[in-house]
Amino acid sequence: MHDGSQPIATAIPEHVGIIMDGNGRWARQRGLPRIAGHEAGTENIRRITTRAAELGIGYLTLWAFSTENWRRPPDEVAGILSILARAIESETAELHRQGARLQHIGSLEGLSSDLCRSIRDAIELTHNNDRITLTLAFNYGGRAEIVSAVRAIVAAGIPADQITEETISAHLFTTAMPDPDLIVRTSGEFRTSNFLIWQAAYAEYVFSPVLWPDFGPDELDDAVSEFGRRERRFGGLMGMAPAQPAQV
Ligand code: IPE
Ligand code: IPE
Ligand code: MG
Repeated sequence: MHDGSQPIATAIPEHVGIIMDGNGRWARQRGLPRIAGHEAGTENIRRITTRAAELGIGYLTLWAFSTENWRRPPDEVAGILSILARAIESETAELHRQGARLQHIGSLEGLSSDLCRSIRDAIELTHNNDRITLTLAFNYGGRAEIVSAVRAIVAAGIPADQITEETISAHLFTTAMPDPDLIVRTSGEFRTSNFLIWQAAYAEYVFSPVLWPDFGPDELDDAVSEFGRRERRFGGLMGMAPAQPAQV
């Protein structure tokens, strides 16, 4: 536990990704419709972003909607999209005030033109901020991202023998970001579900049983502390200075 005012003393991950899972179960436990869980989960984004910035996390990537979530009933999908559109409209000014730079990863295809415009406006307004980069992974899936990178590489005519790991990284949505150091999944599920599957090759994972709307600053602090206790090896040996794996 922590009073929430100061960063905790531990190694701070530069880039944290969160799989924000458990909204539906949170609502069900309260006898509410699933959509009420998505409302509460979206509300929680502000709390966690504020705490992440206080901790000195440079990049926070929050997964809000997957390319596979289109398989849900149309009214739930429409509800999630409209909650997100409203949240972007209502939260951008405060995020801007806090010095957050907003980014989006995923496809804008299939989203309404109003939602696309809100996303673009928020990115444009905040693009010079440097306290924290908040990336909304929205209509995002890791395999779809890799497919689009491969298509872009082929379209650019890059010869096969010149394609390296760096080439692929450079064609992903995350090209300007460091790879995630820590990935948190809430709600007690132990899978990636297709989140940052290329970028997370050497990420540390923390799985929390807490449902996303209840995942507060203390839980984020705990996940960061757990990260601080891990020893990252990147394929080397214990005690060696950690280094990113060489690009081949
Ligand atoms: C996460 O909560 C939000 C999205 C995937 C859009 P869920 O809606 O998956 O909640 P559960 O897993 O059903 O509890
Ligand atoms: C992953 O959660 C996607 C997001 C949190 C946005 P899901 O609830 O969609 O994942 P599965 O279906 O349980 O694997
Ligand atoms: Mg879920």
